[in-house]
Amino acid sequence: MKTEPIMPARIEFADGQPPHAPLFGDVYHAQAGAQAQARHVFMRGNGLPARWAGRRRFVIVETGFGLGNNFLATWDAWQNDPARCAQIVYLAIERHPPTRADLVQAHDGGPLPALAGELLAGWPTLTPNIHPIDFEGGRVRLLLALGDIARMLPQLCAQADALYLDGFAPRCNPSMWDRRAIRGLARLCAPGATVATWSVARDLRSSLVASGFEVRRTPGFDRKREMTEAIFAPAFVPRRSPGRAAALDTPLGRGAAQPQAAVREALIMGAGLAGACAAASLARLGWRCKVLERHASPAQAASGNPAGLYHGTVHGDDGLHARFTRACALWAHRGYARGVAAGHVAGQTDGLVRLRPGGSCAAWPGDYVHELEDESLQGLTGVPIRGPAWSYPAGGWVAPRDVVNELLRTPGVELVAGVDVARIARSDAEGPGAVWQAFDTGGAVIHGAPVLVLAGGASDVLLHAVSDAASWPLQSVRGQVSWFESPALLRRPLAGHGYALSLSDGQLFCGATTTAGDSDASTREIDHAFNLQRLQELASLGPVPGAPLHGRVGWRAVAKDRLPIVGAVPRRLADITPATRIDHARMVPRIPGLFVLGGLASRGLTWGPLAGEVLAAWIDGAPIPLEADLLDAIDPARWLARRARRAD
Ligand SMILES: Cc1cc2nc3c(=O)[nH]c(=O)nc-3n(C[C@H](O)[C@H](O)[C@H](O)COP(=O)(O)OP(=O)(O)OC[C@H]3O[C@@H](n4cnc5c(N)ncnc54)[C@H](O)[C@@H]3O)c2cc1C
Ligand SMILES: C[S@@+](CC[C@H](N)C(=O)[O-])C[C@H]1O[C@@H](n2cnc3c(N)ncnc32)[C@H](O)[C@@H]1O
Repeated sequence: MKTEPIMPARIEFADGQPPHAPLFGDVYHAQAGAQAQARHVFMRGNGLPARWAGRRRFVIVETGFGLGNNFLATWDAWQNDPARCAQIVYLAIERHPPTRADLVQAHDGGPLPALAGELLAGWPTLTPNIHPIDFEGGRVRLLLALGDIARMLPQLCAQADALYLDGFAPRCNPSMWDRRAIRGLARLCAPGATVATWSVARDLRSSLVASGFEVRRTPGFDRKREMTEAIFAPAFVPRRSPGRAAALDTPLGRGAAQPQAAVREALIMGAGLAGACAAASLARLGWRCKVLERHASPAQAASGNPAGLYHGTVHGDDGLHARFTRACALWAHRGYARGVAAGHVAGQTDGLVRLRPGGSCAAWPGDYVHELEDESLQGLTGVPIRGPAWSYPAGGWVAPRDVVNELLRTPGVELVAGVDVARIARSDAEGPGAVWQAFDTGGAVIHGAPVLVLAGGASDVLLHAVSDAASWPLQSVRGQVSWFESPALLRRPLAGHGYALSLSDGQLFCGATTTAGDSDASTREIDHAFNLQRLQELASLGPVPGAPLHGRVGWRAVAKDRLPIVGAVPRRLADITPATRIDHARMVPRIPGLFVLGGLASRGLTWGPLAGEVLAAWIDGAPIPLEADLLDAIDPARWLARRARRAD
């Protein structure tokens, strides 16, 4: 595994003493109390709560999430502030997070039991990822970046308004405070961002000054006479690379400081999983979204199957694909578990069995993936199958159409069904007043908005119309699923070569075929036979003799590198000035206001929800809930950049 597994913290608790970390030889907070320290040092030191008043979003970056005391104090202050900002994003880096049991003990008898309980309920599987955890419907978003600070800092895409520096004391935890860390933090700072910490270490202060901060000492807390406050005021602010500027620096994207009332509107082309995920994520950030769909109702194309699986993956080298899929699966699971529990979505979210996996999963936390013995495999699935097999406790199956319908019910999302968008064009007006317009087959304008998201799946002709065909190596891959009455009931969905699950009405569902360049829309007997053969290999199951076989055909949009396409659409090569450096996706100039969420391949259920969050954050200028190298890997400009590198 290239990525370092997460080692949970070792914490010693003793009555009347702050929790102690023997690995570092230091305590988690001052003797006089974690909440009082948080309020004096981190909140007051950053001018909070006054500085977030009336803002649309306020972004706090913390080094060392620890037991979450500073987070809880901030959340509590936000809750009690009538002038609070619309959203707090709290991005915290942590290499050794506490286990659930330690988190319970740390907050047992604490002053904020309700908030601590919610934190515990949202506590993630301890894998090396950025874990988005939403509270209060996303108005308080914790982005828990689990990993070492040196690895994580370059992976963060955010503009911070305030920094809480809270590693263990610099003498026992130098990497949390060194020049490299401070430089990395400065890169994240919005102009005027502030810093607060209880430390007055000389090296820290000189690193802050060297990275463009104005530093001062103020009265400290508890036994510390003084503390450090700083403000980011660099002599020179480097220009952001144009590719990411679309995310953060456009008049639309520079959203955080905008007043709460600013109206933001987007058009989304396509009401499948991609369009619904994009619309719901944008709407949760306050955008008004119109979703245009050619069919009379949503989820009639690839997203219309009765069921589909979602789950993580494990690869020995934990490459981009495995890391991205893990981050997505963990996020998707939270939403699906809520939807299924509420009765809005048909499905099962209590685990998935992966049969005959290759390699080992021993390095991963058991609540992400673990090996199954043959007896527990049979107990779990209810059918006599043999391993080797792994369980993904945070996997399962859901009905994609239910998922789409639930997402489209998000307040702020409006479905405009039965409109075939034949063409899109940007109005002549330049600058922030320009709008993207969607035209019907008769040439009439259907709707317009400053932002347009292409989410037309495998039949997305608009995508090819606005950009270089060669820079979108997308294939349309036909697939057929089968379902029928069966004597067996699978208690957990199975994945392997093919997949199988029991639908809510007891029918067995299995699939799926994959044929590229095949436009036959009819269900085929030969494809049913293929699915039944795969099912036999998985679990020796089949239909009740003579039962009719039902099927459905759809097309997946599959990119050449088998990752989705999420972000701002690059300009055509012909429209980019020849001298422009475009050998990295981040550099490639984009078409203003035009975005895409596509290439969901056979993983729309797993990838869609986080892809929607990433896209919405990019459009809105919010911190991106994904590591930077994964964002590069799904960036629509990646092929242009690759071509430019090859041409060098
Ligand atoms: C057989 C099969 C089995 C699968 N199994 C799984 C599985 O188990 N797990 C999983 O995660 N994924 C699975 N998938 C993949 C998953 O279904 C897709 O990744 C996902 O549905 C793609 O969603 P989408 O929104 O991109 O595309 P679609 O669902 O195809 O939606 C695109 C929408 O855009 C509309 N549209 C396009 N152009 C226009 C236009 N010009 N104007 C108006 N509307 C337009 C279309 O009508 C359509 O409704 C499977 C796919 C198939 C085919
Ligand atoms: C003082 S505690 C943080 C307390 C926390 N802010 C709170 O409110 O509870 C310091 C934290 O820094 C973390 N840490 C130490 N070294 C680290 C590193 N190299 N990368 C990331 N986190 C690290 C520790 O695991 C510990 O949780």
